[in-house]
Amino acid sequence: MKWFPWVLSAVLAIILAAGFYLFGLRGAVQQGDDGRTSVLLSSSERNQVLAEMRGFLESVQDIIEAATTGDMKTASEAALRVGRVDLKDLPPSLLRKLPMEVKTLGLDTHRKFYQLGMDIKGGLPQEKILPRLTDLMNNCVGCHAGYRLDLEPGGK
Ligand code: HEC
Repeated sequence: MKWFPWVLSAVLAIILAAGFYLFGLRGAVQQGDDGRTSVLLSSSERNQVLAEMRGFLESVQDIIEAATTGDMKTASEAALRVGRVDLKDLPPSLLRKLPMEVKTLGLDTHRKFYQLGMDIKGGLPQEKILPRLTDLMNNCVGCHAGYRLDLEPGGK
């Protein structure tokens, strides 16, 4: 029975990997009735994500307006306002429930706003701002096409 500990470790590793997949990579999800993946959150977690989303939208509006009028300082500030996110400011429960793809795409969106803000500050020509914003907004469109947020059972 020399192999027994090895089999046991292998089984445990598989269980651990499955647990990590279910709760770390996959997040707390179910199939939504509109074909999208529904992420199940508590009410306060959902409110937090939606508030972040409204911040994105506000920045997009400010950047378009400032880029149109040539107000580069405002454009840069509007991008940088949503350009930094600290994972440690997010509740661990939210990090666990959001699927890996959502976390990755979300972080990438913040990173792109940050880069855009810094580039505008560094003298990015006015006509380059909208193309960059158009590219960045593929993240918004892509994530919204695949995911929605719903309240978890008993979520309040
Ligand atoms: C990583 C995924 C992801 C990215 C990236 C993302 N969103 Fe969202 N957003 C969501 C989800 C999920 C919802 C909830 C949609 C639902 O439940 O139908 C949402 C909701 C919203 C809402 C509704 C807010 C409310 O109060 O109801 C707005 C506005 C919004 N997003 C704007 C944006 C903009 C603008 C961008 C890009 C700059 C963006 N989002 C990028 C996932 C994302």
